[in-house]
Amino acid sequence: MRSRGAGLSRRAFLGAGAALGALGAIAPSRLGQARAPAPFLPTDRLTLAAGPLDMRLLGPDGPATPCYAYDGEPFRLIRLPRGARLEATYANGLHEGSSLHFHGIRMPNEFDGVPPLTQPLVEPGGRFVHQLPLDDPGTFFFHPHCDETGQAGRGLVGVLIVEDPRDPRFDAEHVLCLKDWRLAEDGSFLPLTEADGASKAGTYGATRTCNGQPRLALDAPAGGDVRLRILNVDSTRVMDIGVEGGEAWLIAVDGHALKPVKLDDLPDGIWRMGPAQRIDLHVRMPASGAPVTLGDYRASDVYAFATLTARGRTKPRKGPLALPPATLPAPELKKAEALSFTLQQATDAAVQELGLPPDDPLAKALVASFCVGAATYWSIGQVSWSAGTRLGLPPPLARMEVGKSYRITIKNETRFPHPIHLHGHAFAVLGSSKGRLPLHFADTVLVQPGEAVDIAFVAAPGDWVFHCHILEHMETGMMGWFRVV
Ligand code: C2O
Ligand code: CU
Repeated sequence: MRSRGAGLSRRAFLGAGAALGALGAIAPSRLGQARAPAPFLPTDRLTLAAGPLDMRLLGPDGPATPCYAYDGEPFRLIRLPRGARLEATYANGLHEGSSLHFHGIRMPNEFDGVPPLTQPLVEPGGRFVHQLPLDDPGTFFFHPHCDETGQAGRGLVGVLIVEDPRDPRFDAEHVLCLKDWRLAEDGSFLPLTEADGASKAGTYGATRTCNGQPRLALDAPAGGDVRLRILNVDSTRVMDIGVEGGEAWLIAVDGHALKPVKLDDLPDGIWRMGPAQRIDLHVRMPASGAPVTLGDYRASDVYAFATLTARGRTKPRKGPLALPPATLPAPELKKAEALSFTLQQATDAAVQELGLPPDDPLAKALVASFCVGAATYWSIGQVSWSAGTRLGLPPPLARMEVGKSYRITIKNETRFPHPIHLHGHAFAVLGSSKGRLPLHFADTVLVQPGEAVDIAFVAAPGDWVFHCHILEHMETGMMGWFRVV
């Protein structure tokens, strides 16, 4: 890890030309292979029950905090092999409407968990069955898609790891969930959203945790190869993940393998990660007794969230352990239709009224649900998601064709970074106007103030939301949708 502001990356900016070639290299084209509507035969079945859970986030002797969790387990962890067919029943044990969304999983639209767009709200005591083909290996997560600020903010987040038997052998693996909490001294929650935060960088939590603890102390074999799956499951905070004391390579982003990049070769020697983004790191441990520290270097007082201490001994290997290349639909960049969307502060003129008649079932469902915020502060492409008294589904940002390639430029004209997420797809991140991003696949990409980021993907059928994953931003307008038919 180099110090902050240590100059530019040695890694050259991947221009569009280079990207075209490299994209073919990392992902053999399977264009035109629409997912076949084969009958769904579950290999695994489970129920995920959302409900209350008391957690001692202010220390083992501190007061309890009334959190939410799946199955009473903080950051509920599910591991399944690649190719599994998961039938997951969501059981809503909360006192409010909710839903379950499997973030980053490419699946049939009807299981995407977005009320009112893809399903009705799951009322308290209600259930919803999701059928998920787990074809892409990687680090994924799941969370509610209604009152996310309130529900995910109280801890309702789980991890889904799709294991690939072809992966290289690591000596150890750890899953690290980073999340802040907005707590009063008595352990109760402070308001999870405030207008000042929602309309700016977001409302931050001051109690920082990794897997619910202030700092994790872990052991790993000296000289050994450790796989770290790091998830930013916070509602708000952008983090600069860096490693000190051992060699580290970025080997996957949002679950999808990329050609290993030495962390030190990235700008400032860190990977900047907004809410919902995940990375897999390969860390090679030093000699016995030496520590490796993982930290968020974004603020001047570094938050060291985990320390790995080298113990015992393993014969050290050389170079990074690369994961098998991602096999995802590769967009055809030459034929792709180009679209551009600008992230902006909403003005009244930017807020469009309902694009559907009031008796439209979708419009009615929206009004009946509470999956919208109280105010409108943001927009994408001059359109804001509905909020407060402006209930209604906005018109789609784009109408797309199934199997066709799209190239989207996301421009950020606000003063704040926005992690932008597209449901149901893994898109290629082609590059950024600031030249800071290696070519990779992702489901969420951070777009910094004044930056333009290019993504491309092959459109899959359905109505897919496209939104900022700073939860208050998405709930106050920074969400739109694509209709793919
Ligand atoms: Cu993590 Cu709309 O999603
Ligand atoms: Cu945002």
